Amino acid sequence: MAARALNANATLLARAEAVMPGGVSSPVRAFGAVGGGPPFIVAGEGPYVLDAGGRRYVDMVCSWGPLVAGHAHPAVVSAITAQAERGTSYGMPSPLEAELAEAVVAAYPGVEMVRFVSSGTEATMSALRLARAATGREAILKFAGCYHGHADALLARAGSGIATFGLPDSAGVTAAVARETVTVQYNDLAAAARAARERALAAIFVEPVAANMGCVPPEEGFLAGLRALADETGALLVFDEVITGFRVARGGAQERYAVRADITCLGKIIGGGLPVGAYGGSRALMERVAPLGPVYQAGTLSGNPLAMAAGLATLALLDAAAYTRLEVLGARLGEGLARAARSAGVLARVQRVGSLLTLFFTDRPVRDDEEARACDRARFAAFHRAMLARGILLPPSQLECLFVSLAHDEDVLDQVTTAAGDALAEVNE
Ligand SMILES: Cc1ncc(COP(=O)(O)O)c(C=O)c1O
Repeated sequence: MAARALNANATLLARAEAVMPGGVSSPVRAFGAVGGGPPFIVAGEGPYVLDAGGRRYVDMVCSWGPLVAGHAHPAVVSAITAQAERGTSYGMPSPLEAELAEAVVAAYPGVEMVRFVSSGTEATMSALRLARAATGREAILKFAGCYHGHADALLARAGSGIATFGLPDSAGVTAAVARETVTVQYNDLAAAARAARERALAAIFVEPVAANMGCVPPEEGFLAGLRALADETGALLVFDEVITGFRVARGGAQERYAVRADITCLGKIIGGGLPVGAYGGSRALMERVAPLGPVYQAGTLSGNPLAMAAGLATLALLDAAAYTRLEVLGARLGEGLARAARSAGVLARVQRVGSLLTLFFTDRPVRDDEEARACDRARFAAFHRAMLARGILLPPSQLECLFVSLAHDEDVLDQVTTAAGDALAEVNE
């Protein structure tokens, strides 16, 4: 069975590599950081995915975050199916957009108006344009290891996908663009303050819980400090909640840490597994966006009715009990992995915020990108392969988070920790 699975996946990879760079549509899927080829997925159900060779895995990637309800949740599937029967795209407004916008506005007190786009990248790129237009300034501050999509200005020291391939930046980004992006280490408020006082910043971009250098929580006072710094210097504070939005709380990191952003970027969960992004802020800010204002931004499939329907169905599942459940499940997995590492005698630590977590191969707290990169990534790669062999699909990089969904019940998570115990013992041999 395992050999057949390998063959089917290897054959598909060779076929894809002939016609697609790396055989993939997004670089980290190529498994460059862990070796071996990726499984080619043909189906997902609840906490599981099935590959082309017929092998089933517990899926801890969950499409990198959108699938907070697991794969093919019946309510989400039926919302998509019902909408598809009424048409897949209109190129005109539909009532679903206002309904999803109302749900976002209700959950994020700093958001009075929302614009839907088709990806997180578009959300952050558009937020950047809006911030520049609103402030009349060009430079921005971001934190090393935070990923805000692949727009030129936001690619500087941009976290997992880039770090995994050892590229400091991306080729093709002009020096002029790079000069306008100042980067300091995450959780380093003093460095952020120096940068913000030296340069007139249009915006301070941050992942309020960093999830693209593994899971790195904001230290006490970091987010509030950025809020104060933005107020002091006239920069706009942009929270990239593409991962944390509707995940670490319904109101995202802004609710969890009680800090309000000027512009909020969303994606992933609000599309329920279909392509979506959104950015929003105060009415005064958002009225600068076309057609009301001069900041141009548009999209053929923006506000796509299938994506809106999937998002609405997903948000309908996320009541207070769901967040309590995500917390309980995240804690169970985190504690299980930490226990597994201890009993295998492996130096490792779990960092977790709700249902986002990372097992770092280090004995010290990881507070920023430098510390994340200093972890034993070769050992992570061996662990990843050992887990895959045991039917557990982890994100293929030390610098990523595991995503727990509502479909991962205690039994499934215990299966993951049991496999981790064996896998850690194996990599420690
Ligand atoms: C925090 C964050 N912002 C933005 C993005 C970009 O979103 P997308 O991949 O939908 O363009 C990602 C993607 O993983 C992300 O993690």
